[in-house]
Amino acid sequence: MKKFNVFLGFLVVSFLVVITANIAARVSARDKPQEEAMVARGAQLYDDWSKVVPNAAVPGGNHPIWARQSNNTRSGADTWRCVSCHGWDYQGKEGAFRAGANATGFSGILQSTSLESDEIVSILSGVDDPQHDFSSLLTADDLSALAEFIRYGLLDDNQFIDIISRQVESGDLKNGEEKYSAACATCHGSDGTSLTFRYEGTDIALGTLALQDPWRFLHRTRFGTARAPEMPLGVDLGWTPQDSRDVLYFIQSNLPSGFESTETGPLEIKPVENEGGPAQNWITGVLTAFGAMATSLGFAVLVGALLVGIILLLVWLLRSRQS
Ligand code: HEC
Ligand code: HEC
Repeated sequence: MKKFNVFLGFLVVSFLVVITANIAARVSARDKPQEEAMVARGAQLYDDWSKVVPNAAVPGGNHPIWARQSNNTRSGADTWRCVSCHGWDYQGKEGAFRAGANATGFSGILQSTSLESDEIVSILSGVDDPQHDFSSLLTADDLSALAEFIRYGLLDDNQFIDIISRQVESGDLKNGEEKYSAACATCHGSDGTSLTFRYEGTDIALGTLALQDPWRFLHRTRFGTARAPEMPLGVDLGWTPQDSRDVLYFIQSNLPSGFESTETGPLEIKPVENEGGPAQNWITGVLTAFGAMATSLGFAVLVGALLVGIILLLVWLLRSRQS
């Protein structure tokens, strides 16, 4: 009888463990993409697919949709990049590209994060708009990678960045400094000036880019750039979205940008009206906080209940052994 009890107890415990493991896996699968490498690949395709696709053939002339606007005077290959139309902040005309030389008036893609993968692939294959067809330029795998990036890689950093000054509004400077020294300073230098890159026709260093285009900084810090395959990706380093913002905040606050002595500041900053965008009042703040608490609480209660269950079971087992 005792033996049977122990056996039964063992069965029940294993059953509970399997169930919890399953629930835990599902909870983390929801906010973690299955294939992080695919998301990063999608992000680099979004940045400039012609640099990541082997033997890419960019059609001559401008992308046909480009002719629907006249403000942005770029031409040729650049007009075929997703980022040129939808922005580094993924918010098109609602985001950083709402004004200035980069403005096209094209919409953002943040609202597409809730679509299924095949729906996004259809959009990229010109099903709704025959001119928005990339299916002859990119393979099916690359279209899927773009869809995964849109579903799991997009973040709304404009809740943390002042769109006019381009400064991160707050953050953990110490965390930013530690992360920067540990992972970035070896190549970029402790003051960020060891490497320069082309930006709007000039060579600039990391401190300048951070102030000039924090959105491009974040995108490439998280997902890399085709120009630097040797660079560690934020997502591979396990950096959270906030870690990247902290590093950006540290760089903006401490590294030389070249704007220190000038009155002008970063290029193209024009005061624009902040129309639309996410509601930023205290009620939405409180609601979001409650939402987050409810989610983590639910899981904690579940784990707690399970632990209590296991303890009760052990007590019961021990007692039945003694009797
Ligand atoms: C030349 C400009 C241009 C380029 C390049 C471009 N798009 Fe678009 N995209 C648009 C416009 C304009 C729309 C709005 C719907 C339409 O007319 O197709 C759109 C719509 C979308 C949508 C649906 C958004 C919605 O809410 O309807 C997604 C997703 C999208 N594009 C992703 C991409 C990706 C990924 C790439 C790169 C492979 C890309 N786009 C390249 C202009 C562009
Ligand atoms: C192994 C060397 C190496 C390390 C480590 C490294 N980078 Fe880079 N990074 C590069 C190179 C090379 C480039 C490309 C320079 C060019 O465009 O010619 C680059 C480019 C960038 C860019 C893109 C600039 C642009 O053109 O928009 C950003 C942003 C960046 N690095 C941030 C970081 C951050 C943040 C870290 C720390 C996680 C980091 N890098 C670590 C080598 C490195």
